Amino acid sequence: MASTVIEQVDTSEEVEQTPEDTGIQSFLVTFNIRRFDPEVDDEPRWVDYDVELYSTDRVLDALHKIKWEVDGSLSFRRSCAHGICGSDAMRINGRNRLACKTLIKDLDISQPIYVEAIKGLPLEKDLIVDMEPFFASYREVQPFLISNSKPEAGKERVQSIVDREVFDDTTKCILCAACTSSCPVFWTDGQYFGPAAIVNAHRFIFDSRDDAGDVRLDILNDKEGVWRCRTTFNCTEACPRGIEVTKAIAEVKQAVLRGGR
Ligand code: SF4
Ligand code: FES
Repeated sequence: MASTVIEQVDTSEEVEQTPEDTGIQSFLVTFNIRRFDPEVDDEPRWVDYDVELYSTDRVLDALHKIKWEVDGSLSFRRSCAHGICGSDAMRINGRNRLACKTLIKDLDISQPIYVEAIKGLPLEKDLIVDMEPFFASYREVQPFLISNSKPEAGKERVQSIVDREVFDDTTKCILCAACTSSCPVFWTDGQYFGPAAIVNAHRFIFDSRDDAGDVRLDILNDKEGVWRCRTTFNCTEACPRGIEVTKAIAEVKQAVLRGGR
């Protein structure tokens, strides 16, 4: 009878490899972070931090290092850390970006890296803003499918590939607010719906299965609606999902003029 040999491997000597073991060099990067604690500060203040990083690190890794190793009171939002949840939009060197998608190697580290909260929304603490005005505009455009008919029992609502293509770009929105908070009109007029709300209205206005496009167009044909857009393209440049935000706004404007999609 054949015998079974079980080979035991001694793993007690295994040690975790650090980037130094693989020859990857670390370097010191200075971060200048705009801090604000409403319980202590009258005004925001800039604070310097020197952080040891690797070129494969992201700005989010630097923020974690500062929070976990230097000052636990540093406050910022993040969840997925992979560009999906949209919670860590911030201004990095004056541009709206997701901290989890901004690689250190893509920044000029010979200068301090400036990090601050996105603009145009009430500052709560450090890099955290009150997102409620942003989500209030989002809710107002009714960002969900409204249909007057029911699909056939047990069947999906059929849509052609061509019809699906029409609004494909705007389905990619992760509601990070990078677009809305980079818009000069939104900075000066907090009542403006803002690009993100219009993008999410576009997603349903141009969906052939939806029957409430007219309602949304009516909502956006307002003095605080699409006509406030000055086509500065800041929103398109800021979008971490590569959505053609300005184009979507222009398509909604045209639909308002046509009286339908
Ligand atoms: S359109 Fe782009 S920038 Fe604007 S909220 Fe959506 S994902 Fe963020
Ligand atoms: S942490 Fe989720 S998008 Fe950056």
